[in-house]
Amino acid sequence: MSLANRSLVTIDDLSNGEIEALFSLADEMADSPTKQGGLCQGKIMASLFFEPSTRTRLSFETAMLRLGGRVISAVDIGATSLAKGESIADMAKVVGSYADIIVIRHPWEGAARVVDDYAGIPVINAGDGSHEHPTQTLCDLYTIRRKRETIRGLRIALWGDLKHGRTVHSLIYALARFGATILFNAGPGLGMPEHVLGKLTTEYDYKSIKVKTLGEEAKRGLFPLDAMYVTPDRPHQPAMFPDIPEISIRIKGDIETLQKHGINASLHYNISENDFQIKLKRSEIDTLYVMRLQKERHASTEEIQGLKRNYPVVDKKLLKGKEFKKTLVMHPLPRVDELAHDVDDDPRSMYFKQAAYGVPVRMALLALLLGAKEVTIPEEQASFVRKIDYPVYKRDSGIKCPNIKCISNQETEVRYIKPEFKIVSREPLTLRCVYCDHELHPQYVASSDWHEGKLENKKYHSADSHFGRKIKLENLIIFASENEAQAQQFKPSSYARQ
Ligand code: NCD
Repeated sequence: MSLANRSLVTIDDLSNGEIEALFSLADEMADSPTKQGGLCQGKIMASLFFEPSTRTRLSFETAMLRLGGRVISAVDIGATSLAKGESIADMAKVVGSYADIIVIRHPWEGAARVVDDYAGIPVINAGDGSHEHPTQTLCDLYTIRRKRETIRGLRIALWGDLKHGRTVHSLIYALARFGATILFNAGPGLGMPEHVLGKLTTEYDYKSIKVKTLGEEAKRGLFPLDAMYVTPDRPHQPAMFPDIPEISIRIKGDIETLQKHGINASLHYNISENDFQIKLKRSEIDTLYVMRLQKERHASTEEIQGLKRNYPVVDKKLLKGKEFKKTLVMHPLPRVDELAHDVDDDPRSMYFKQAAYGVPVRMALLALLLGAKEVTIPEEQASFVRKIDYPVYKRDSGIKCPNIKCISNQETEVRYIKPEFKIVSREPLTLRCVYCDHELHPQYVASSDWHEGKLENKKYHSADSHFGRKIKLENLIIFASENEAQAQQFKPSSYARQ
């Protein structure tokens, strides 16, 4: 099977089978990196890194050179015409006419997707703001697979700034697809964004359970405040998912709240005076994935100082806990204070291996997308959980992505980018931005079928009213606000609740 001319913008662009096949090829590249020089001879990779990078850029460039290809690069927006106000689309078209493949890192969320829309050659997302970083996920999964052979059924704790860390956003979808059990331990206020959890629920049938933790574990710093434990909701493809393990954490709280959050058969609890135990048989953590505080994504130094104070730290002392006995300690790097240097010579530390695997993994990826190699994928592995083709909403009704970092909200890009959303649900009405995945829940809708000759029928309704929900998709007009509806000459109907 050929992956030639495909792009990797989000981790969902590769199926599980394709990822497995890429890893087999990476094994070959790792075994004899210096013997691959004939594969991409004559090919040019454009390396566009508009945010700091050491590992990702240099491993991509090393990979291309090892494959016998060449590299052209731009590593500073200020030194490109983007600084003169050129759009990403124009830059993409131009670079697409020089190179055979583009690797791009950019601070705007959705930038790699736009480059892919306009370049006409394969594009690899090397990180778009806080959104995704799919090739880091390939390195992460490859590292776990080299040590543990499989990802299915592993208990993996994601640790640190889960809100802004793009590597964990790509990683979590992949872990869900390969059937891992995921535990979140975020820094205060740095939890997994709602839209990522939303996608985990709608696309992968995972269910998040939020628990307040107290007791021994809390003291040891395992679950200092909020632990979010994620398990497959419905094993609709049982083979994909592990048997749900049983963990043991002590929690204190009110049972109604927990039940409301949908604690299901995977968790058992004994109630004694409002203090109950959730028992999980296998309490060990297979992998601890640590993230630094993404300080470049925060507004003020005061905010950063505040977050630093309670940021969870992984050190030798923490790893003495018996639940970490066989834990792989992973980190995409760079690290700052969240991962102590005293862990470096511990056999459980994997982060420098992760970085080193960047070369064979990226060699395999480049060789595949450039059509220099093909792979065989066993049929049963060809797909992953499911790809939902949601209807797309593109009407120009004034609705915008709520994420100010989204490419669809940038001054130089609004000239040509029209906001575009997937309609993920009608009840409640949920739109997901196609560029950055952020979600919104607009309150007012109308039907384009209003006219029938009568202007008085040009009415808007509350999106969750009986009438609002009944509007056919092809006629649906969605408003960001009542003001917007009125600005477009619609009047409130009796279904527009105030
Ligand atoms: C990560 C990134 O840039 O998102 N680094 C990397 O690519 N290895 C993680 C980070 O910067 O914290």
